[in-house]
Amino acid sequence: MGHPRTTPDVDAMPGSWYVSAGGDGRIGGVTAADVDQLKREAAQAAASLVEDGMRVGLGTGSTVRHLLPALAGRRLRGLRCVATSDATAEQARALGIPVEPFGELDALDLAIDGADQVAPDGWLIKGGGGAHLREKIVAAAADRFVVIVDERKLVPALAPPVPLELVGFGLAATLGRVAPATLRPDTPPSPDGGVIADYHGALDDPGATAAWLSAAPGVADHGLFPPAMVSEVIVAAAGGVRRLPVG
Ligand code: 5RP
Repeated sequence: MGHPRTTPDVDAMPGSWYVSAGGDGRIGGVTAADVDQLKREAAQAAASLVEDGMRVGLGTGSTVRHLLPALAGRRLRGLRCVATSDATAEQARALGIPVEPFGELDALDLAIDGADQVAPDGWLIKGGGGAHLREKIVAAAADRFVVIVDERKLVPALAPPVPLELVGFGLAATLGRVAPATLRPDTPPSPDGGVIADYHGALDDPGATAAWLSAAPGVADHGLFPPAMVSEVIVAAAGGVRRLPVG
């Protein structure tokens, strides 16, 4: 999608590279297949948290793509699910997971989603797939928001870019207001008609940046998720799966 991710791009790097965990240096070489397996393990751990009758929010991305088969395989009864993207809704329905529009459910028991970056204090950057507006609405509606990541997503501090969803009306003025920001190349509008962009400015204080972006007219939402929204982060690493409580 042209998003300038700050974690290594697995698809672009078929060999091996080194990753850091929480900024404490190199921990070993991993391949794309290794990373995919870690995503699967984090997703499977999260699927085990879902129980019969729960109202569940389903996130978006390659880690969530592993969540859906794991969830379908549990053959739970009475699930009511909402999806944060058409891609997730389509995959879920193909697996027999019931998905309904998020207009009739006023709350969710659990939401599960991936992330692009996870800081030690629990701040997240999301929106690598451009679904951050719906992802934040779903996370905020859930009693528990569980984030599933492989260890590459743990960073010592959040770093730009921060995904944005902008209203099309007055787009140039909005981009100027939240400069430095750029439209994300080759990225279609969101299902809600929003324009996907990225903010490239300083991010020393995620809370201040989040408040500033939220207050900017024309910004529908941004990809900074506060720790108060996050219940736990499930991290899969070569050494096993860890559950890190947050908010
Ligand atoms: C989509 C997201 C994704 O959850 C985030 O980009 C992580 O994706 P992946 O699991 O593919 O690494 O926020 O908008």
